[in-house]
Amino acid sequence: MTQQPPPAAGPAGPPDLPDRVAKVYGELDLSTVPAFAGGFINFGYWAGLTGPADRQLTEADRVRSEEDLYRLVLETFEPAQGRTALEVGCGRGLGCALALREYGLGTVIGLDAHPDQIARARKANAELLAASPDTTGRLEFLQGAAQQIPLPDGSVDCLFSVEAAQHFRDLPGFARESARVLRAGGRLALTTFFARTPAAARALPGLLPPYADGLDVPHVVDEVAATLSAAGLRQVRVRPIGEGVWEAYDRYMAQQPELRDEWPRRYLTAYETGLLDYYVLTATAG
Ligand SMILES: C[S@@+](CC[C@H](N)C(=O)[O-])C[C@H]1O[C@@H](n2cnc3c(N)ncnc32)[C@H](O)[C@@H]1O
Repeated sequence: MTQQPPPAAGPAGPPDLPDRVAKVYGELDLSTVPAFAGGFINFGYWAGLTGPADRQLTEADRVRSEEDLYRLVLETFEPAQGRTALEVGCGRGLGCALALREYGLGTVIGLDAHPDQIARARKANAELLAASPDTTGRLEFLQGAAQQIPLPDGSVDCLFSVEAAQHFRDLPGFARESARVLRAGGRLALTTFFARTPAAARALPGLLPPYADGLDVPHVVDEVAATLSAAGLRQVRVRPIGEGVWEAYDRYMAQQPELRDEWPRRYLTAYETGLLDYYVLTATAG
């Protein structure tokens, strides 16, 4: 396996992304739309957060759900003390900051293919970056694509990715690069939504605009797991977590006047009709 060059320190180049993905995370800045909150961009993990069915869910609940999705993933690495972690598709880097604050990691590297997201991550985490590594572990943000990770072989103990893999066109490339940058025995944890079956993957573009407009790819969950195994990762496990995601996310949407008539409420329909689910996939390298 060839050693990759160290990360380039020069100015950010153009995004290595399909046009629609580049637009959504560039000029449209998805983190600013009201369905998300706190600078995160994920549907959230809501188990234990919702309370009685008539309770109004707040923006603080929404942020907490997005943080808890990260916690669900990061808990799979414990004990993580002093280790080096890489997030692939870090967005504004708030999950990297959480990982550093709460899990005692030695180094957290946030990687994103969009230069605007890397610039936002550096701005949003400026204080932590200035303090790093003197009062915390080390924090870094790098521009780079999942399918071409600008890090050396065997340099990472824990690799995680939160709601980004639905964008990856080259999943085998991501799997190969994950297996390459992880040390033997290193751990991968990936969470996002995938199609449940090949027939569902064919139906999803008819229901959900992001599959039709080129933002998302309807990867089939078993094929994703097989792709990780084919890249040499071991002990690949798939855990559906939709029970803690879709109903509460939909309730939050339904309670916001500006969101209740929006198409993202169709995600609950897609879940309830068996087309997609939210998953955590874990694997071990070497
Ligand atoms: C839905 S956002 C999730 C951001 C963050 N993980 C969170 O939960 O708040 C997806 C992110 O993945 C990035 N992304 C999409 N395709 C990528 C690729 N091939 N390689 C690296 N990053 C990618 C996007 O630029 C975007 O910032």
